[in-house]
Amino acid sequence: MISNLAAAELLGATLAQADFYPRLPQQRRLYEAARTAILLQQLSAGSKLPSTRNLASELGIARNTVIAAFEQLAAEGFVITSTGSGTYVSASLPSTSQPKRKLDGNAEVVPETPPNGFATLSKRGTQLTEFAAGTRYEIQPFAPGDADFSVFPFKLWQRLQNRVWREARPDLLDYGQAGGYLPLRRAIAEYLRVSRSVKVSIEQVMITAGTQQSLDLCALLLADVDDTTWVENPCYWGARRIFESCEVNLHPVAVDAEGIAPSEADLATNPRLIYVTPSHQYPTGVVMSLARRRMLLDLAQRKGAWILEDDYDSEFRYTGRPLAALQGLDTHGRVIYMGTFSKVLYPGIKVGYLVAPPALVEPFKAALYDLQRPGQLMLQAALADFIALGHFATHIRKIRQAYGAKRELLRKTLAAQLGQSAPISGEESGLHLVVEFPDHVDDEALARLAAESGIAVNALSHYYLEPPVRRGLLVGYAYVPAEKIVYYGKLLAHVIQAGLRR
Ligand SMILES: Cc1ncc(COP(=O)(O)O)c(C=O)c1O
Repeated sequence: MISNLAAAELLGATLAQADFYPRLPQQRRLYEAARTAILLQQLSAGSKLPSTRNLASELGIARNTVIAAFEQLAAEGFVITSTGSGTYVSASLPSTSQPKRKLDGNAEVVPETPPNGFATLSKRGTQLTEFAAGTRYEIQPFAPGDADFSVFPFKLWQRLQNRVWREARPDLLDYGQAGGYLPLRRAIAEYLRVSRSVKVSIEQVMITAGTQQSLDLCALLLADVDDTTWVENPCYWGARRIFESCEVNLHPVAVDAEGIAPSEADLATNPRLIYVTPSHQYPTGVVMSLARRRMLLDLAQRKGAWILEDDYDSEFRYTGRPLAALQGLDTHGRVIYMGTFSKVLYPGIKVGYLVAPPALVEPFKAALYDLQRPGQLMLQAALADFIALGHFATHIRKIRQAYGAKRELLRKTLAAQLGQSAPISGEESGLHLVVEFPDHVDDEALARLAAESGIAVNALSHYYLEPPVRRGLLVGYAYVPAEKIVYYGKLLAHVIQAGLRR
């Protein structure tokens, strides 16, 4: 068994290595050194560690540093401290991956915990952070979801914000308990009534930090752990992540040319939540038919389910009037409608809204305050002015026209280059179109190939939770300047042709 002195020497030798977590604080380095030695059984189970006083003096570091490191080891089950008797290496170690072996057979220290913090992740945390598809390309040609930031009215926005700050209203510096800044809620209610045929009173509108937060509130307040939640297959990643974080039971339902299309087997389940994107299914772009909308509302009423309507980009319909929202057809108060300023203004604004059915207004308002401490009233005041003074309507008109022209140019460019080898769909509305491939094509490999040419497109297959999976690419046209659409369109077509030939 290793002696106290040998243990101190072993830890001292590890800490003396210049490349052993050089940027971490000393207590974390000591913790890592001891943890590694325990995992490698250099400090064997049941062996006694030096006292904190002796170890501090042997290593020439503060005793508090040693105490903190020992406390962390004890909290994670690597050591057991018994008052008056000392600290011992645990007989049974916490489950953890063993350090990897180098090819030469020597142990290589592979930190399991991130080097910037003490905590290892929970099971939920591990699962949530494993999903690399959640990361998205930003500000690159064809990145789906990005807007054309060059047309944002910076000067006007600055003026409106300055005006709010000049008014110096202390009440706007608080969190705000009312569900958001009243004039903004009023402006949104009016906008939704006129443009989206949403049945809404000001009371029902609540300002959130975007759709992510609206979905989080809905999942937390309306579903329990393991409750069945229908999601479209394929489905928007952001929504899927929220539902996973709330530990509901995800039940993918196929999407066809009319939107969500539950099978007999789906209908045999009892969903608590049904998440849909009726105006422009994300990511396929399908618009939900009237028959399907009616079916869904009827089903929600019969089964006591809540429909979460994510109306994220309905402002961008290029032919004819935008379709009315599903919520407008709801006569039983089963729909929670949500919208966002991420697409019409800019994603970083982090302002969205939800329209709760009357029965849910009070609990939602209370939870919004208790769980989120919403705030951002100054920003909301500037946005309310932006809408009330007519700038919002002008801005939407302007970008709808600009995006419509880009969409048509891109569609023509791709169609001319690709023909029937890769048909285009989902382009009547929204901010992206889908280039479809035959089933055998590896669309993820194609997306990677495009990335090598500086083009950020997403693989359609990545959005599916289960087979059958369609293959293709999501191509966003909003961000690319109009004069570059043809250039990048041809470049993308070239990459696709090369990929399809492989
Ligand atoms: C389907 C869908 N819903 C909502 C959003 C926007 O969410 P948020 O308001 O949280 O930015 C996005 C953004 O990409 C989206 O694709």
